[in-house]
Parts: sequence; structure tokens; C-alpha cells
Amino acid sequence: MSVQARPKRLSVTQIQSRKGGDKIVCLTAYTSSVARLLDHEVDLLLVGDSLAMTVYGFESTLPIGLDTMIAHGAAVVRLPESALIVVDLPFGSYQASPTDAFRAAARVLAETGCTAVKLEGGEEMAETVAFLTGRGVPVMGHVGLTPQAVNALGGYRSRGHAPAEHDKIMRDGVAIAAAGAFSLVIEGVAESLARELTEAVAVPTIGIGGSAACDGQILVIDDMLGLFAEFTPRFVKRYRELGGEIRAAAQEYTDDVRAGRFPAAEHTYASPRRVKPAAE
Ligand code: KIV
Repeated sequence: MSVQARPKRLSVTQIQSRKGGDKIVCLTAYTSSVARLLDHEVDLLLVGDSLAMTVYGFESTLPIGLDTMIAHGAAVVRLPESALIVVDLPFGSYQASPTDAFRAAARVLAETGCTAVKLEGGEEMAETVAFLTGRGVPVMGHVGLTPQAVNALGGYRSRGHAPAEHDKIMRDGVAIAAAGAFSLVIEGVAESLARELTEAVAVPTIGIGGSAACDGQILVIDDMLGLFAEFTPRFVKRYRELGGEIRAAAQEYTDDVRAGRFPAAEHTYASPRRVKPAAE
């Protein structure tokens, strides 16, 4: 039997070794076709629970469940060859206890084939992060603006401007890194806080609204492609306006079908030539 060598995906230790070095480039992906396009362009693909909003049209990330995250995680893992793939643990699957978190994370790793999970939260989640990492589950942390806590935070506003909140986010990030997370997403905080936290922890920080002071960056793919126009946070840069492109293509197609221009001869299977039966 011949064994074909599969190109190796980036590992969590390779990501960790980039602390303070080459920037770590990350994007979200929710489908295998998009994941295949992004693989080789970025270092890390996150199957984010932001898919609750971008793919499923919910107003927050809260309603998405573990089975849905696993289905998208498995689709994203199927094709890429080089990017490290991380899947978000959804709201309700890990907060109650470290054991719950381990059961959810074990299902995610086993059923998707991804390398690591991400979870949101600070000091209160440190015990859980230590429990997971001590049992072979690589964890990416997420502090600052944590969308799963939108109801408790009172909305999607940037955080850490008041001294008490600044200090709390610092303690959160330091606790999650000390608990064994291999990297830390910092979302929606002022540059000074992102810089201070990046300098305080030994693992790479990945900013989303966390300024260029972080060791890497992540954006939600629908935001950067102009596919999610309902709400554009200050930290999003739109690299394309694919929403307009898709609408224009749909209009052209509709006009063609209504005017009889599509399908044309080149899109049509030729009819078989009928051969007349020979006269007896
Ligand atoms: O769910 C998500 O897409 C995320 C990123 C914004 C970091 O958590």
C-alpha cells in the first residue's frame, strides 16, 4: 500500500513560536469552499460562532449549538492543507464546569478533526483552560469584548477604558495565558491595553479591534468581504464589496432568464439525432 504524504498543517507550537515575530494572520471560515480558498493565504482559520450571525442570521452568537459548530468545523477541516484550524466552543457548552467543557471540546476535536478550540472569558475560565490543556486539548483564549457575554456587557461596545475594567481585562488575559492557552484573542480594546497585555503574556495575542500592537490579527470573513452589511464595527476593513457583486450578478441572471438570453445554445445539451428506421 502506498501512503501519500499529506502536507502538514501549522501546529499550535509553531503558532506559539511566532510570539513577537512574524505577524500571525487569521480569518474565520464556515464552509469548505471558502476554507480551501483561504488556506495557504493565512496561518489560522477559525470556525467562529460568529456564524450564528453571518450564516444563520441571528442577532447574537448565543443561539448556535454544539452540533452546528461541529458540522461547520468538519466541513472546514475537510480540504485545507496548511492552516491551523480552531473551532469555537459555543455558548452554554463549557461555562458550567470544566467537565462540561472537556466533553464539548472532546467532541469538537474528535468529530471535526480540528487542532484546537477557542473559548471566551477571563479569570473565571482559567480553571477550565487548565483542565482542558492538561488533558490534551489546545485552547485559544478570548478576552476583552466577548460576544457571548453581550447581555451582561450591555452591548457590543469597546471595553477597558475605565481603570477598573482595564485592570480586570489585564487580569483576565494573564490568567488565561498562565492557565495554558496557546494564544489569546483580544477583542475591542484600546491600543494601550492591547499593547500592555501583549507584553505581559508569553503567548501570541491575536487582535480584532485590538490594534497593531498584537502579535497577529483576525477578521470575520464576511465583514472583510462586504458580505455582512448589517453592522460594521470600527475595527473592520472591507477589502472587497462582494455583497454588491452578488446582487449585480443575480440581477443580470434574472434579466437574462426573463429576456430568453439564458440558457443559450452553449449551455444546452444537443438533442440526439433521430435515425429513420430502414423501410422493409
Ligand atoms: O466568532 C468569531 O468569529 C470570533 C472572532 C471574532 C475572533 O470569535
